[in-house]
Amino acid sequence: MKKHLLVANWKLNGSIKMISQYIKCVKSCLSVLSKKNIIVIAPPTIYLSEIYKNLNNIDIFLGAQNVDINLKGAFTGETSILMLRDIGVKYVIIGHSERRLLHNETNDILVKKFDLIKKLNLIPILCIGEIEKNKNYNQTTKILIEQLNCMFQVLGKSVFRNTVIAYEPIWAIGTGLSADPKYVQFIHKFIKDYIAQHDPTSIKNIIVQYGGSINAINAEEFIKEPDIDGLLIGSASLDSKEFCKIIAIAE
Ligand code: G3P
Repeated sequence: MKKHLLVANWKLNGSIKMISQYIKCVKSCLSVLSKKNIIVIAPPTIYLSEIYKNLNNIDIFLGAQNVDINLKGAFTGETSILMLRDIGVKYVIIGHSERRLLHNETNDILVKKFDLIKKLNLIPILCIGEIEKNKNYNQTTKILIEQLNCMFQVLGKSVFRNTVIAYEPIWAIGTGLSADPKYVQFIHKFIKDYIAQHDPTSIKNIIVQYGGSINAINAEEFIKEPDIDGLLIGSASLDSKEFCKIIAIAE
């Protein structure tokens, strides 16, 4: 049975009140499942410790939505990878389109973050994806290659070993209009084939997950595709019951 990575990206949402009920709901959902899938909750940074306290060693991993390239010092408002590791974070989302767009997260910065996360033995989730115009002009694979090449050029051909890539077509994020599962399967196969050209062994331990308007109604269509190894879920993951339905569907 295939293992899937299911990540709840809360973005800028959540509250202390929400956390205990949410974790209780996911715990009871997992108690009746095989626990073969990897479940990650990525709340806003401020709530990571609160969730960590509620987890009590159950099979849920912590994810961060960003990290700074500096380890410590005069960087007001930033979060260090050392601090994320300190509170049990295992996965770190980087390159989300909202950060590339709103916080000028360039490929150069992402290479530094990706390298730092791997060096500290956490797992990067590198978000890549195209805007609608790219898709309409058949430029999707060109854009994805650019977002992958910056890693290869600086960090070498085996850079993607033991990492996660999240394909998130920007036109499907937060719109309620997910991409077509067969199109996503084609893109994921393209991503894996492109990485395999650089380092055939990477393919054995890379996860390529899809994000973009996933919900309990459409999740199954994606999960059953051979090269969709997981889901990065935004809005639908804010409702613990909806997230649990998706976890159950992926069993
Ligand atoms: O990181 C996942 C996110 O970008 C997808 O958001 O709300 O379309 O599921 P949403």
